[in-house]
Amino acid sequence: MFTKLWLSCFLGFLLLNGSSSKNDGNFQCSSDEPKTVLNIGVIADSSSRAGREHIIAIQMAVEDYIFTSCHKVELLLVDSPENSAQTTATSLDLISNKEVKAMFTTLTMEEVSLIFELNKTSTNIPIISLSLASLVPPPQPPNQPPRPPFIQMSNDIAHEMQCIAATIGNFHWRRVTVIYEDKNGFPTNMAVLNILSNSLGDVYSKIENHLAFSLLDPEPLIEQKLMNLSINSNRVFVLVQSSKELATLIFEKAKKLKMMTDGYAWIVGGEIANLVDSLYSSTFNNLQGLIGCKIYFEETEDSFKKFRTKFRRNYMSKFPEDEGQGDPSIFALRAYDAYWAIATALDEIMLKGNPNGIIKEWPKKVLRSKIEGLSGVL
Ligand SMILES: *[C@@H]1O[C@H](CO)[C@@H](O)[C@H](O)[C@H]1NC(C)=O
Ligand SMILES: *[C@@H]1O[C@H](CO)[C@@H](O)[C@H](O)[C@H]1NC(C)=O
Repeated sequence: MFTKLWLSCFLGFLLLNGSSSKNDGNFQCSSDEPKTVLNIGVIADSSSRAGREHIIAIQMAVEDYIFTSCHKVELLLVDSPENSAQTTATSLDLISNKEVKAMFTTLTMEEVSLIFELNKTSTNIPIISLSLASLVPPPQPPNQPPRPPFIQMSNDIAHEMQCIAATIGNFHWRRVTVIYEDKNGFPTNMAVLNILSNSLGDVYSKIENHLAFSLLDPEPLIEQKLMNLSINSNRVFVLVQSSKELATLIFEKAKKLKMMTDGYAWIVGGEIANLVDSLYSSTFNNLQGLIGCKIYFEETEDSFKKFRTKFRRNYMSKFPEDEGQGDPSIFALRAYDAYWAIATALDEIMLKGNPNGIIKEWPKKVLRSKIEGLSGVL
């Protein structure tokens, strides 16, 4: 009799504990207690598909994650072009003047270093970069000041370039033409071209020609550039580091110039390949022979299907003018997971009686918490 009673008590405790860590109950914070507001910054470029996905996914994560520590989150959402000086300035403003506890952006490590230089306290504030792929810096040389804490939820761009090169090697194409977007990120583009060039060397291929395009180019100029390439270059085009918006324009023009017919090959980088499935635009539907490397994620899991249903609804109601069904891509999944990881760490720190929510050595802490997210295990 007594044993039974004890057992059920113990079970009850386990359940209670379980429910608090699964985050579906208010274990510490009763619902009538006032909640302290935490500001979290999101800087996204709503003119790009990826940026729009970031916005919806983070808003969904904020709704889904309930703090056990009597806090609620207010998102400070700022619309800003990707990797611009404006984004860096906005980030600094959110940190210095709006007391954000964490921030999601698409900044590069150099840009984040600049922010840390201008405000030293900001090294305590988690800044998560959601850009798709990034250059992994070489190992830190000894006797150098430590790098700023910074987490990039992205792929090593070298892997993407190796995948593209492997595809080209597979078809034995010896020379390729590279097209990329000039997003005032000149040095990044050149570094990426270098990596691609090295990878192509491994498969006995090379970049014969490369040309930058910009969304600011007038349409006749885009046609002119493509025409020049079709006359003076080989017929294997590799489109890297391009937004979906520029790619759409380029494909439209290439089609008009009959550069998407037999005899031409188009290979796209991750920014496009990862979005192709979620788009149903006429431009993308009609593309024949487009090759790309896409990041794998589990699409058959119930958790993903549930997420997708809700994401579609939210996306289409916020951006009704957008094409397609609003299916989430890897961009959305990673943004959702990144928020979840940071919120978990913040929550834990505040439960331990750190009301300011300063996460010392935060990248280690966040990286240690093995979260099984939608995009995989973090
Ligand atoms: C740096 O940021 C903190 C908040 O994170 C703020 O209190 C402080 O005033 C900022 N310093 C400067 C120089 O802007
Ligand atoms: C196209 O090629 C011609 C001749 O090589 C060159 O003069 C012209 O500047 C090129 N135009 C563009 C838009 O690249």
